[in-house]
Amino acid sequence: MTSVLFVCLGNICRSPLAEGVFRQTVEQTGHSDRVLIDSAGTGNWHRGNPPDPRSVSVAAANGIDISGLKARQVEKNDFDRFDLILAMDRDNLAFLRRMGAAEQTSRIRLFLQGPERDVPDPYYGGKDGFQNVYELVKRGCLDLLDDLKLA
Ligand code: 4NP
Repeated sequence: MTSVLFVCLGNICRSPLAEGVFRQTVEQTGHSDRVLIDSAGTGNWHRGNPPDPRSVSVAAANGIDISGLKARQVEKNDFDRFDLILAMDRDNLAFLRRMGAAEQTSRIRLFLQGPERDVPDPYYGGKDGFQNVYELVKRGCLDLLDDLKLA
């Protein structure tokens, strides 16, 4: 069993989309029983709220329902519960590394591994930003599947 936590700032735009896309990606391999997937935010402003309608919409356009998710903030015991904690950008990574200072840094890393390392915060932008997030997240999820040897 592997457990993966996706983390962004508000837990309403990027990380719930990553949670939904990765869940679908893993389901398509038939290995859902081998992976626990969740998401959280480093901030707490949106605690208890559903994902941003723009994330719900881009997910739905790709056959994924994330409307039932609820935002929560990262907590200390997440560092015990999850094997891998994946930050959507470098600011959130820095926050997680400070919070989990005693943890192995290899378990806390950026979600994207390629040259385009940050999934940009789409909150104050338009719809295009959410499509871009979806595309980055999709690619990152396929790479993650390879990394976890679930493909
Ligand atoms: P997220 O996007 O970190 O991808 O969920 C944001 C959501 C809300 C805010 C910022 C980013 N905010 O400032 O409220």
